[in-house]
Amino acid sequence: MVEGGRRLIAGNWKMHGTATALSEARAVAAAVARRQADGAEPPPRVAICPPATLVHRLAEALAGTGVLVGGQDAHAEPQGACTGDVSAEMLRDAGASLVILGHSERRASYRESDPAVAAKVEGALRAELEPIVCVGETLDEREDGQALAVVGRQLATSLPDALNGRAFALAYEPVWAIGTGRTPTSEQIAEVHAAIRTALTGRFGAHGQTIPILYGGSVKAANAREILALPDVDGALVGGASLRATDFLPIVEAGWA
Ligand code: PGA
Repeated sequence: MVEGGRRLIAGNWKMHGTATALSEARAVAAAVARRQADGAEPPPRVAICPPATLVHRLAEALAGTGVLVGGQDAHAEPQGACTGDVSAEMLRDAGASLVILGHSERRASYRESDPAVAAKVEGALRAELEPIVCVGETLDEREDGQALAVVGRQLATSLPDALNGRAFALAYEPVWAIGTGRTPTSEQIAEVHAAIRTALTGRFGAHGQTIPILYGGSVKAANAREILALPDVDGALVGGASLRATDFLPIVEAGWA
């Protein structure tokens, strides 16, 4: 686990959820509070990243519970003529404290480049949001033996120097594992996480040791414990299995140990 750090278990609701989904988040918060009351170990940090329309209501529903609210993307600029976009300042104003940036679905669907992701990260820092920066290779790239090279390139160009000394998290999400039910082997996850740790310490020195590196891609109750026990796996970014409290809570629980 990261030096002096705490695990981060973050749910990414993607484009799922209307007002009725708030009850799932409330159930998560209630269970986390109960667990916290009778456990001696430091709890993992828990976050839920709903669609932008729910950020404000979720932040109100979870106020005072310790469960954090995050956005799923933010424009690099604070405001402007950018129809349909939301800025980091707007997310912060709505009650978010984190934001996922550079998710592979955005890289693929909106052609977000590494420099574009880096600009968004700078925007998040400007707004005092903690960025969760996503990297990960496609299946073709893995089969070509390029996984480490691709992740290394994404790290080098998606992370601005401004991150030095600032709170942020990294998420390794192999594209072929997202929403597919396929996960890499423990050896594959450990290999990439070790390479990410080396890159982070090479770049940011001692600060790089403190950055949580999350694994994401088909994390569920059945595999969370094994994945979270791997070296340099400091948390999880969870898509499908974060939508219902009954699926998400066993993953949060695995973050305790
Ligand atoms: P998944 O998604 O857990 O549904 O595979 C993870 C993610 O895309 O963050």
